[in-house]
Amino acid sequence: KSYRIAILGATGAVGTELLELLESRNFPVAELKLLASERSVGRWLRFKGEDLPVELVSHRTLENLDLVLASAGGSTSKTWAAVAVEKGAVVIDNSSAFRMKPEVPLVVPEVNPLAAANHQGIIANPNCTTILMTVAIWPLHQISPIKRIVASTYQSASGAGAKAMAEVKTQARAILQGQEPLAEVLPYPLAFNLFPHNSPLNDLGYCEEEMKMVNETRKIFGDQQVRISATCIRVPVLRAHSEAINLEFESPFSADAAREILSCAPGVKLIEDWKNNYFPMPMEATGQDEVLVGRIRQDISHPCGLELWLCGDQIRKGAALNAVQIAELLVERNLLKPAKAYVSSETE
Ligand code: A2P
Repeated sequence: KSYRIAILGATGAVGTELLELLESRNFPVAELKLLASERSVGRWLRFKGEDLPVELVSHRTLENLDLVLASAGGSTSKTWAAVAVEKGAVVIDNSSAFRMKPEVPLVVPEVNPLAAANHQGIIANPNCTTILMTVAIWPLHQISPIKRIVASTYQSASGAGAKAMAEVKTQARAILQGQEPLAEVLPYPLAFNLFPHNSPLNDLGYCEEEMKMVNETRKIFGDQQVRISATCIRVPVLRAHSEAINLEFESPFSADAAREILSCAPGVKLIEDWKNNYFPMPMEATGQDEVLVGRIRQDISHPCGLELWLCGDQIRKGAALNAVQIAELLVERNLLKPAKAYVSSETE
């Protein structure tokens, strides 16, 4: 069986990767529609050797679909996801619009694949830093419960979209030519610089990106007890995020045991060459499917603490690959079938 699919946001950083992944993973595609805003109408994108037109998302272009992979921002998803469901499609949504709604499963296939079974038309793809962290620490959490997580992130420009990636290159060129770097997409120059994530701050001083790590991790783990604090920083890297993670367990967890577990954990690649001080780097994580993990070591400040370092491709496992893996999961388990019209709960 093959499926009628649309990519909503097909011209964006994640959309382009979705197109590539559907082709390279040989997803059973019967028909593919590429949807975006009116800005992109007239553009063509290549899929399996064929040029396909980019069309405007509309009631008409959302007809007769089995699956919509949406990555066009929260407001576009809020406008169109329920429409697509009503017309019979299942929506895998990469925006934050539905992630915390109780009726919407939030899925990382290596962590909580079973949650997908309860979908009511929309399945949410988690935040990128959250996906990368949960893939790496879930196998440890299953052996010994994690009590507390302190995460510090080093996030690439890709999280802010294709235009932000292009802007960092332009800024770097400007600086090297002795000119002032312009910041139009990003709030400040990122080339040769870094700044705390610019999502809105709450009363406690945490930004939205940091709170996504807190709330989404708890939902994916199905564990509201785990305590989490995060500091999210944007760095001048193009498309892979890095994270320094401190874990506190209920009881001591040796670095060797963690290493052994992570050496065969799904979606994880252990990279540790202590002699040569060689560990995961965002440049090497770029284009790879796995989350690269290394520098696993005992926390010298706490008997039940563990430190680790990870890098993962933000566009791939952090977004597009995770969405395609969810789609594969739906196909495998015969879950890619129309739900009744999606009814949104007001409470999040
Ligand atoms: P467009 O290229 O027509 O603006 P990125 O995250 O890389 O910035 O990509 C965002 C994606 O979402 C693009 O494909 C963009 O299309 C699409 N998009 C943004 N706003 C809308 C909208 N209002 N309707 C449909 N697609 C949208």
